[in-house]
Amino acid sequence: MSGLQKSIHIKTFGCQMNVFDSDRMESILVKQGYRREADLAQADVLLINTCSIRAKSEQKVLSLLGQLKPLKEKYPKKVIGITGCVGQRMGRSLLQRVPHLDLVMGPDGVERVGELVEEVLTRGRRVLETTFDNQKERSYSQPAVIDKVRPSEYLTVMKGCDHFCTYCIVPFVRGREKSRPIEELLEDVRRLVDRGAKEITFLGQNINTYGKRTGESLAALVDLTNSIPGVERIRYVTSHPRDLGTDLIEQFGRVEKLCPALHLPFQSGSNSVLKRMARLYTREEYLEKVAALRAACPDIALSTDVIVGFPGETEEDFEQTMDVIRDVRFSGAFLFKYSPRPGTRAHEFGDEVPDSVKTERLAHLQDVCFGKIKEENQAMEGQIVSCLVEALDKKGRYYTGRTPHGKLVHVLNAGEACVGKILDVEVSEGSASNLKGYYVGAPRQNRVGEAAKAVPA
Ligand code: 5AD
Ligand code: SF4
Repeated sequence: MSGLQKSIHIKTFGCQMNVFDSDRMESILVKQGYRREADLAQADVLLINTCSIRAKSEQKVLSLLGQLKPLKEKYPKKVIGITGCVGQRMGRSLLQRVPHLDLVMGPDGVERVGELVEEVLTRGRRVLETTFDNQKERSYSQPAVIDKVRPSEYLTVMKGCDHFCTYCIVPFVRGREKSRPIEELLEDVRRLVDRGAKEITFLGQNINTYGKRTGESLAALVDLTNSIPGVERIRYVTSHPRDLGTDLIEQFGRVEKLCPALHLPFQSGSNSVLKRMARLYTREEYLEKVAALRAACPDIALSTDVIVGFPGETEEDFEQTMDVIRDVRFSGAFLFKYSPRPGTRAHEFGDEVPDSVKTERLAHLQDVCFGKIKEENQAMEGQIVSCLVEALDKKGRYYTGRTPHGKLVHVLNAGEACVGKILDVEVSEGSASNLKGYYVGAPRQNRVGEAAKAVPA
């Protein structure tokens, strides 16, 4: 790198895959001689890794860019870049629209981020890199960054998606499905657990079809990971109901370290909406998968994604979504208003549901769905749950972790020494969003700070 050591800050929006990509970009730049800077405003190079799944996600990025204009005017040498899905989707038009932006690149530019930033710095040019690696070649390599390992680590195993759900921008900004080689993933898992990780969550947009072009499979990845010493818990996201085969379902009853939890988006309970979404399953087929999962693993915790107000969704369609929410006891849910994404097929459907109707349906869905989750969590008061303590919460109040079923737990008497430990926690309170409790065998009055003394056996 030329000149004095420059500093770098990466701000991440969106999903865990973006967190993984940001870690990689940071590690590449640090290896190249950049220094990490915690304060966004102070960094010589500021990259914003973005999400374009809904219009709102993009608006957040554009408004941040607006706020950065005075900073760039004051420090013209500061480099500001947009990476990730918004970069891919908006490309050149983003550079044109935002004159104080120096770099725009898509998710496939991650490995080249070093050269691209250098190009801006040394040539003083504005750089656009949205070429897309859409070849269906064997696999791609992208080892995880091992220098700051957390108790619960995410590992990207594939990128892209071959489904074209008609509302979804992902296939356009992340390209076709491509998997990483299984040996590289197992090596990543070993290195992560050697550095203290206990729980591994495999990530892919459509994880069930991992390795489909290369003769590898998610079931094999799970089985092989199960036999790696040091791994305590295995999870994966996101499953597509059509691709969740019997091999994967039966693993929930057999594989010791596979957590009894699965995120299985159903999106809509109406067959006519599902058809227009091109989801490739019916409501009945979805419910059959749920039944098979519960037969294999009776206490499995299911979570889901739902979209309300898809073009043409009638009151009756929406009622069918409500029925699924009432019938399947979900332990967690992400509920969204449909957001039209330019370039997707649904964007051309017309028949847009008015925003006021979407808002009303969402509120109704939230009431029922979160009401049921609250009941489930309240019923756990007094029970002992096992919790892998991960970190202090964002406000610095409590140490938090998750149960095998994926429930978020605030461990009220835990301290720093508990991080990375799997503790028995007695639940004192359950709400719609979390469980609160005290870990067994330690004083209950402890709080953060003083709590560091409470060391588990
Ligand atoms: N509008 C609203 N929600 C969407 N999702 C994906 N695309 C859209 C969209 N255009 C939701 C789906 C998906 C989750 C990650 O985001 O529910 O499962
Ligand atoms: Fe989007 Fe559908 Fe692919 Fe999921 S399966 S990433 S919703 S296109």
